[in-house]
Amino acid sequence: MNLNTLININKKKFDIKFKSLLKKKLDKSSLSNAMFYGSMNGGKRIRPFLVMESAKIAKISSNDAFFIASCIECIHSYSLIHDDLPSMDDDDYRRGKLSTHKKFNEATAILAGDALHDLAFELISGSLKNKKDISKLKLINYLSLCIGHKGLALGQALDLEYENKILSKNKILDMYSRKTGKLFEFSFSAPFILKDKSKKDIQFAKDYGMLFGLIFQVIDDLIDEIGTFKKIGKTPGKDIQQGKSTLLQLVGKKQVINLCKNKINTFSKEHKKSISNNPRLIKMLEFGLERVN
Ligand code: IPE
Ligand code: IPE
Ligand code: MG
Ligand code: MG
Ligand code: MG
Repeated sequence: MNLNTLININKKKFDIKFKSLLKKKLDKSSLSNAMFYGSMNGGKRIRPFLVMESAKIAKISSNDAFFIASCIECIHSYSLIHDDLPSMDDDDYRRGKLSTHKKFNEATAILAGDALHDLAFELISGSLKNKKDISKLKLINYLSLCIGHKGLALGQALDLEYENKILSKNKILDMYSRKTGKLFEFSFSAPFILKDKSKKDIQFAKDYGMLFGLIFQVIDDLIDEIGTFKKIGKTPGKDIQQGKSTLLQLVGKKQVINLCKNKINTFSKEHKKSISNNPRLIKMLEFGLERVN
């Protein structure tokens, strides 16, 4: 089965379970409606796919993997709702529909983002029932680090601070690793952490997730430039319009793709053994590099 099909099957399965979980958790308030709108409106569910793949390797149950993936999609959706706000990227569309602040209003969108963030912690702390408390605590602590003032939130702050500036490649890569990479790092390594795998195995999973995330952001920038609304579900051309500092702007398409390819090669060489046990992992990175939406 090709990866596209696998990702789509996983998305369908995830969406059905995630929808019923949200329906159970949320009520009829406008806040709940906005939370539902911002998280159930047609995302690709790539992070849940990574969790499922990692869960198979680390051998955690598909139920635990589902709760980890749901927690991650809540965080991811919160970050997108806030990312689209007028004070951030000011985007009117997301996933082919009005962004949450356009559909509801700004205050509701801010609070829906906040509450999705909190729901993520409710899910990860309240589910995973048969796991040792210490592994759960480690996981929750690590999630906090990945998304907080050194992770996703800092990355988003830097992304805005870096608008209309000329920066070094390393500075941009550092910003990407935080705003996007860290949540991917968490997605792929969470099953390993929960299963109390060796330090070395956990580091492998973290490095893989981070690399996947970097490639993912590079291609997100590329499809912002060359994609269409129909394909990407968001307004194309926004990065240039807003003076975003992207790697694409700095080095151009050819070099940016080469940089990703080199990173994949280096990673494969450094982790020969883990890769030979799971050859699909490299295919997944290549898929990330070739995606068009
Ligand atoms: C968009 O993420 C934001 C980035 C981190 C690049 P996705 O492309 O995963 O968004 P959805 O969930 O599929 O809409
Ligand atoms: C978003 O990056 C990263 C987040 C953590 C939300 P972008 O601002 O490039 O994402 P899009 O293009 O709006 O989806
Ligand atoms: Mg942004
Ligand atoms: Mg944006
Ligand atoms: Mg983008």
